Amino acid sequence: HRTAAVIPAAGRGVRLGPGAPKALRTLGGTPMLIHAVRAMAASRAVSLVVVVAPPEGAPEVKNLLDEHALPERTDYLVVPGGETRQESVRLGIEALPDGITTVLVHDAARPLVPVDTVDAVVEAVRDGAPAVVPALPLTDTVKQVEPREKGEPEPVVATPERALLRAVQTPQGFDREMLQRAHRSETAVGEGATDCAGMVERLGAPVVVVPGHEEAFKVTRPLDLVLAEAVLARRRA
Ligand code: CTP
Ligand code: MG
Repeated sequence: HRTAAVIPAAGRGVRLGPGAPKALRTLGGTPMLIHAVRAMAASRAVSLVVVVAPPEGAPEVKNLLDEHALPERTDYLVVPGGETRQESVRLGIEALPDGITTVLVHDAARPLVPVDTVDAVVEAVRDGAPAVVPALPLTDTVKQVEPREKGEPEPVVATPERALLRAVQTPQGFDREMLQRAHRSETAVGEGATDCAGMVERLGAPVVVVPGHEEAFKVTRPLDLVLAEAVLARRRA
């Protein structure tokens, strides 16, 4: 088995606010993307990291990776990304060399995922699951609403049973063939899937959940940066 990690890092980070592309914003003085790459490379299973860079930023990202040491065993590639996360992931998958049998897809925006979570996902794929997602139970109750104009009260349609819901993180792990099939299937690619596992579900293939980790949260809004800095400071203490 050879395992590669594809890291979509081509987003602008609109919700984080103005500034550099999100993956290049720093945490503890180091770009978020470098943290994410190191988090994947920390797993002994991962022999290759494919970083999907902002479309015009591939040379800059390549330089960044050249500057930051990775373990001897880990190769890396940089490819330019696309308009959507799904498109960026597809471009990353297309760059995978022969011989890779297991693929992790990991958001650059989840820089602090612990290696134990990465290893647990890899192990579940190697044990035979074609698609594996780390996830946590929800703390908030979730309501389904009927969307209205901004600011208008929205009628509640339903309250799904919270105990049955999971908030999904990355890295998501896949049998390579399955992931490629999903990204080539018209049904799976259409209607805006927000994660690769959702695309595999649309093929009718099984997806399983393993325990996620609270430090694998996604840096999305400014408050998430405050939390990420605090987690990093605690680790370094
Ligand atoms: N991503 C990507 N290519 C895109 C859009 C997103 O590679 N065209 C990546 C982001 O870089 C990020 C991951 O997908 O690592 C998860 O996306 P998200 O958290 O939504 O990041 P952004 O799209 O950058 O943020 P926003 O939606 O706030 O603009
Ligand atoms: Mg986005």
